[in-house]
Amino acid sequence: MSRRPLIAANWKMHKTCQEARTFMAELLPKIADLKEVDVLVCPPYTLISTVDQCREGSKVLLGAQNMYHENKGAFTGEVAPQMLKDLNCEFVIIGHSERRWVFGETDETINKKVHAAIANGLIPVLCVGEKLDEREKNLTDQVILNQMEKNLAGVSEDFISGMVIAYEPVWAIGTGKNATTKDAKDAIALIREFVHSKFGQEVAEKVRILYGGSVKPENVKTYMEQEGIDGALVGGASLEADSFAKLTRF
Ligand code: 13P
Repeated sequence: MSRRPLIAANWKMHKTCQEARTFMAELLPKIADLKEVDVLVCPPYTLISTVDQCREGSKVLLGAQNMYHENKGAFTGEVAPQMLKDLNCEFVIIGHSERRWVFGETDETINKKVHAAIANGLIPVLCVGEKLDEREKNLTDQVILNQMEKNLAGVSEDFISGMVIAYEPVWAIGTGKNATTKDAKDAIALIREFVHSKFGQEVAEKVRILYGGSVKPENVKTYMEQEGIDGALVGGASLEADSFAKLTRF
């Protein structure tokens, strides 16, 4: 069973409109001939429209980095799933470790967001992963399984196969300390095994599972060579068009 590789840019809180336009103008010619790889760009909210306009005529996919789970109401500062749809987003990152550990999102909140994304026709890119102290206490598997269980509670198997899951060990994000290929492969195998046990073999074979954490043009190939790793979710190295384009040529 072959899954289409997915290389995703998470720009986090970076770039102005002009910088986003320049990035897209540089990126598109560099990836125009890509056929076998999906390319996703997740800019901050303020740049979604700009990236959408710039991607016209290309196959670049568009995603947001977060959203609220309600569609409207008195929720100052929040953005609704329908607002993202309205801007032509296809994907939304949910449960990124920075949302969990900087902004205090709980597994229950993340579960609500996964449901809201699906209900509104957005594909969730669900992020899971352990913190350094948890890894040092040998709790990695337990933490990942607990997040998977709680974050996907009540989600129908019909939607899981189309979802994206990203294994992002918190200690590897933005630190330059990437996980070894074995760590990434083992964690991703565990995630797929969980999906298998809960939702069956067909779903487990279809769901795309990415690695994220200090992925760069120099190391992307070693991850993509591993059985079960279907792509990468990239922060720092996705900010320059040249570097991001290189990541798609693993
Ligand atoms: P870095 O690639 O900067 O380590 O960030 C990874 C990440 O958090 C992607 O969502």
